[in-house]
Amino acid sequence: MTAAISIRNVKKSYGAFEALKGVDITINRGEFFGLLGPNGAGKSTLINIIAGLARADSGEVAVLGHDVVKDYRNARRALGIVPQELVFDAFFSVREVLEMQSGYFGLGKENRGWIDELLEALALTDKADSNMRALSGGMKRRVLIAQALVHQPEVVILDEPTAGVDVELRQLLWDFISQLNQKGHTIVLTTHYLEEAEKLCDRIAILNHGEVIALDTKASLLQSEICNTLHLMVKTAEAVAALPPQLAESIRNKVKRIEGNRIWLELNKEQDSIVEVLAEIAAAGIQVVDLETERADLEDVFVELTTKRGSR
Ligand SMILES: Nc1ncnc2c1ncn2[C@@H]1O[C@H](COP(=O)(O)OP(=O)(O)O)[C@@H](O)[C@H]1O
Ligand SMILES: [Mg+2]
Repeated sequence: MTAAISIRNVKKSYGAFEALKGVDITINRGEFFGLLGPNGAGKSTLINIIAGLARADSGEVAVLGHDVVKDYRNARRALGIVPQELVFDAFFSVREVLEMQSGYFGLGKENRGWIDELLEALALTDKADSNMRALSGGMKRRVLIAQALVHQPEVVILDEPTAGVDVELRQLLWDFISQLNQKGHTIVLTTHYLEEAEKLCDRIAILNHGEVIALDTKASLLQSEICNTLHLMVKTAEAVAALPPQLAESIRNKVKRIEGNRIWLELNKEQDSIVEVLAEIAAAGIQVVDLETERADLEDVFVELTTKRGSR
């Protein structure tokens, strides 16, 4: 099957700086794909290359089989892009902006019904005749999303669509994007709200320093080695200044942090028994009054990969 987006060995430098060092990603049709990475990882550079707004130095990118350079028009038609930056012509109203964008794709009056639907779905109907400059940042962001969708593209890429958007509106956007995906649109999302990527995306690529350092299903990432650790926090009856010497070496090695009457331990989910660990702690004379466990989430995977292993 033709991929929604095929990215082959894409490289891009700005002067001597390598923003993308040979990126390979295949995004399937109908997927909800997350492109994650710290600031400066190269996410927007990659998206701009897919959108035809920037040129790769080498490598190939195709959207639904259309090369973004050689077959730009068809590639662009298959694609809806919500850019990270809010750029607008301040002189036009919301509806005018959407009608102009329609015209760019050769659509005229027949598209008005769809524009009305978009305005409604994005809670912009009562702003349709407002001038762009009169809108708040969150409203502008929604107009950008509507603008990306005027030609009903099969593949939709959203670059940090919820950056600076309040929590309530974020929920509306997530629901809207999820519905698009359910209708069959391929969605590619970059975000630094990892919790939301964890909620929404099927597969995730993590980009760091211009390289893909992980590319897998969310489920696999969450079952990786990193996620085999279990964080256990015990609260003791009294503040613990230092671990008692009689505490078994095997347990001592698992202690990561001590603060007041709390002790954090890192356990291997598969090998360590919480019950045995607690018994050893009790045997060393530490009285445990409460405990909490936490499992690793996407954030832990991300931090581990991008800060501990990925930095070079
Ligand atoms: N037009 C440009 N000129 C010079 N450097 C750039 C340009 N665009 C991006 N960069 C650099 O490339 C790197 C990747 O940027 P970007 O793709 O925006 O990252 P991200 O979207 O992941 O935060 C950054 O170090 C950035 O400063
Ligand atoms: Mg960016």
